[in-house]
Amino acid sequence: MCGIVGYIGKRDVAPLLLEGLQRLEYRGYDSAGVVITGKSGELRTVKAKGRVRELESRIPKRFAGTTGIAHTRWATHGAPSDLNAHPHLDADEKVAVVHNGIIDNASELRIRLSAEGVVFASETDTEVLAHLIARSAAETLEKKVSEALRSVEGTYGIAVLHQDFPGRIVVARNGSPVVLGIGEKEMFVASDVAALVAHTRQVVTLGDGEMATLKADDFRTYTTEGSQTTATPTTVEWEAESYDMGGHDTYMHKEVFEQAEAVDRVLRGRIDDRFATVHLGGLNLDAREARSVRRIKILGCGTSYHAGQIGAGLIEELARIPADAEPASEFRYRNPVVDPDTLYVAVSQSGETYDVLAAVQELKRKGARVLGVVNVVGSAIAREADGGTYVHAGPEVCVVSTKCFTNTVVAFALLALHLGRVRDLSVTDGKRIIEGLRKLPAQIEEILKTEPEIKQLAKAYADARSMLFIGRVRGYPVAREASLKLKEVSYIHAEAYPASELKHGPLALIDPSMPTVAIVPDDDLLEKNRAALEEIKARSGRILAVAHQEQEKADHTIVVPKNEDELDPILMGIPLQLFAYHTALALGRDIDKPRNLAKSVTVE
Ligand code: M6R
Repeated sequence: MCGIVGYIGKRDVAPLLLEGLQRLEYRGYDSAGVVITGKSGELRTVKAKGRVRELESRIPKRFAGTTGIAHTRWATHGAPSDLNAHPHLDADEKVAVVHNGIIDNASELRIRLSAEGVVFASETDTEVLAHLIARSAAETLEKKVSEALRSVEGTYGIAVLHQDFPGRIVVARNGSPVVLGIGEKEMFVASDVAALVAHTRQVVTLGDGEMATLKADDFRTYTTEGSQTTATPTTVEWEAESYDMGGHDTYMHKEVFEQAEAVDRVLRGRIDDRFATVHLGGLNLDAREARSVRRIKILGCGTSYHAGQIGAGLIEELARIPADAEPASEFRYRNPVVDPDTLYVAVSQSGETYDVLAAVQELKRKGARVLGVVNVVGSAIAREADGGTYVHAGPEVCVVSTKCFTNTVVAFALLALHLGRVRDLSVTDGKRIIEGLRKLPAQIEEILKTEPEIKQLAKAYADARSMLFIGRVRGYPVAREASLKLKEVSYIHAEAYPASELKHGPLALIDPSMPTVAIVPDDDLLEKNRAALEEIKARSGRILAVAHQEQEKADHTIVVPKNEDELDPILMGIPLQLFAYHTALALGRDIDKPRNLAKSVTVE
């Protein structure tokens, strides 16, 4: 989604801003823009529809300055265009604003401002902010910005420059991430650490309702009401190099191949062999509290929701606590019954997905205890939750989630084992699961070695217009995630069904042109799954099975190594990530930035 980057210091600002924007490209965008304070203090703006390289080509030769802000826009109000690209300025071009989020009462404010004589240059919601700030009679830029923000409803992460207040950038956050990067006599601001880790790893993440003023050698944070807040910089654990492609052609490929290492990281330091359990330091849930949990409700969106579905299964199997997962986007709108004996778990790679954050806030308002299972340290959901665990997948740049899915599921296995061991799970089963977890990195490596074969299969199936994915119980969320992966990256329509539901409808779709991808683990449901393959074959359907042994009824089988039954779902999705990748490659898709999608969905 939209991205913000800003700099104030001594260096030439335009190249720094362009580099920052490039590092935010993965979030998805359709236009970009930059504004700097020029040599005579005037604001100089350049905007372009399309890619950052288009913006770069429009930057004049003489475009020097040491203060500036920039933006990549993902259209919400008004089509992608030069005019709608940020920054937005007031009529006198004294105030420039870049904004992530949505101003909900923008239409109302536009009507009010138009009646007062304001002429709008764009169709965006953001432009109202520039006019409101410019029209404020407050004495300082900080007060002008907070006065303007008092009139708006909605979500924002903003950065503001004002010609009459040189040498400072004022930023504010409500629902959209804003991170300050603290350098030596220079300061950065961005909506994502990716844009600033190449320059500093000392960061301050603003909370909702917080603002900050950045000067070259100083920063301060305060509330929108003006009270000082404490901001202690923390060190980002991810190095700048983790954002590079590392010799792969796409981030997706790189991230799929990082999974063995990533899983090793999420396990590291957490296993307690003596008591056949794991330690998850940040849960803030003691054994007595863990024993009193009567239900677990997991909330997430997209891939994180699917990881949560597998997580719910693991919790039921290992801890015998009733658990289920629900899309956070649905949950928050159905006035859910919030039960004090239920433990709520919010899952999110970015930790910034608006629907998940809003669900967490709603739950907390109603007194629930919420844990976060999150990848990005210090993100909004991690901060809002009462405790939780990080999944330590490292930065995920490709819009399509792969390694974070796998690590999130492993994190759920750890949570399930922990809960199980303070309840009913035996030492023997605890040890069995730990052994299984330890095998995962090597087994992932083994699966990744089958890439050439998967590539051939992907070519063979890439002509399909639609594909069915089936799985049963443990295999069903694997099928759902694999189907999402394929449709996101290849644009082939894909639909996931429980294999048990075939006869109740989807069997009508089966013919030679509709391939089925079937998840067929060697567990107590193997025969039932084989029966589903028979049914498909009898109707001349093509079958690609992911299984622990060759499947006679399948046209092709990808054989994956066997782990413990409960942990098999972690491995069975991995070849299908590669399948989606190679299908997309065969079809010439934009793999890291699929059309219409953004990496983190920070608006509704
Ligand atoms: O950052 P989150 O995990 O909260 O994101 C949730 C979804 O938007 C995300 O998983 C989406 O489905 C991805 N494109 C999946 O590949």
